[in-house]
Amino acid sequence: MESPNRPHAVCIPLPAQGHINPMLKLAKLLHSKGFYITFVHTEFNYNRVVKSRGPDSVHGPNDFGFETVSDGLPSTNQRRIIDLPDLCVSMPIHLLQSFRGLITKLNANSSSNIIPPVSCIVSDGVMSFTMAVAEEFGIPEIFLFTPSACAMLGYLHFDELIERGYFPLKDESCLSNGYLDTEIDWIPAMPGIQLKHLPTFIRTTDKNDIMFNYNLESIQNALKTKTLILNTFDELEQQVLDAIKIKFPSLYTIGPLSLLHQQHCQANLAKSENESNLWEEDMSCLEWLDKKAPKSVVYVNYGSFVIMTHEQLSEFAWGLANSNYTFLWVIRPDLVLDGGDDMIIISKDFMEKIGDRGMLVGWCPQEEILRHPSVGGFLTHCGWNSVLESICEGVPMICWPFFADQQLNCVYLCREWGIGLEIDSDVRREKVERLVKELMEGEKGNVTREKAFEWKERAENATKNGGSSYINLDLLVMHLKQESV
Ligand code: UDX
Repeated sequence: MESPNRPHAVCIPLPAQGHINPMLKLAKLLHSKGFYITFVHTEFNYNRVVKSRGPDSVHGPNDFGFETVSDGLPSTNQRRIIDLPDLCVSMPIHLLQSFRGLITKLNANSSSNIIPPVSCIVSDGVMSFTMAVAEEFGIPEIFLFTPSACAMLGYLHFDELIERGYFPLKDESCLSNGYLDTEIDWIPAMPGIQLKHLPTFIRTTDKNDIMFNYNLESIQNALKTKTLILNTFDELEQQVLDAIKIKFPSLYTIGPLSLLHQQHCQANLAKSENESNLWEEDMSCLEWLDKKAPKSVVYVNYGSFVIMTHEQLSEFAWGLANSNYTFLWVIRPDLVLDGGDDMIIISKDFMEKIGDRGMLVGWCPQEEILRHPSVGGFLTHCGWNSVLESICEGVPMICWPFFADQQLNCVYLCREWGIGLEIDSDVRREKVERLVKELMEGEKGNVTREKAFEWKERAENATKNGGSSYINLDLLVMHLKQESV
């Protein structure tokens, strides 16, 4: 029987890998601070996690439960893994209804003393429609916004960008006629930023565009709370954070969550580290890395959302091949648009030429890979989790931003923090080859590596006892416990 006074947090991420991972780490941190946890997956993702990780992945300790809600989309095998616009239409109706049912069930269990009553909802910032349920049940809610603070600041200016007439775009030609190169100087802490760097969901000609409106509404909802959790650390994004604090006076920066999680949940680490994978990890790449020289391998991964053309894949392939460096390349099963059989042909053909100099896998244990001493560089799409995980291990990056916050992350990586080199969106094999060589053996690469090491140390300082993120976690816990009374 559970004490009815124990705080009980219900944690609900956007049902996508880059959102589930930080939310699960936050949930485990709260659990380490005495919270009873209910972690919410969609039914579709719950089944994928069980398939890729086995049933143990969704059975935590007795006071850490996993529950499911329906996202309202059919769970067929044909369903594309990432169907963001469909989800954004369906979730505020169907998932919301299902979530309401879940809170009702949890509260019913609490009245029979099986679990403590739900005392707070920790929701993804882009699941802010859950506010309706929080309000109905009188439960306090707080938002974890998973992208960078610089992205958050960009999203916070969507309203003003519309008011000033920059968006929606007048017509499609704006996408290619240089309009997006327009520099704007009025967003604080973002000098020299161009329209093309802003979170890409605003880049539309249609004021009724689903993703544009979904993101706009999410931010407007979040703004009502004045409280926010961000997966970053103060030193990394200080000026941007100062600008955000004007709108969110209660701002809890507790990143990098992966490091803070290691600090607090060390005993449980081996078991808990990757429980939320939606794809099955290929662990053989760790053994392969063991046989390589220190810092000799380029690790290539584009996260969970990127979908590229066959031509882009081919440019990356030959750029990597021609660099003559050893590489570990993650090609997600759904990475290529209409990949089909061509993917198999390219892999086989290409790998015969490459031999043991390259390894291709479908999904890997990324944090372990980045921690491996053989990895010397990371070619990344600049997803925020990947960026932070790379910073935590002091690995410099080659940046190929794809969408959402990734363009802004890339700007900060390359210009502000000096730990990234950028590839144009129109990727060409010569550029890939040149940048890989530059990163691994060039003068710029050396400077970038040194800077990456400096940022690793700063991230460690932020998350160790007495550091800003360490302290902020305690403040957040205090805030949640006070709100829960
Ligand atoms: C996207 C956005 O780009 C990101 O900025 C936002 O915060 C979340 O949504 P995604 O494209 O999935 O995320 O990339 P990223 O943020 O890097 O997250 C991917 C996660 O999956 C990382 O935690 C990474 O460690 C993990 N991963 C990825 C693996 O464990 N194995 C893999 O092979 C690939």
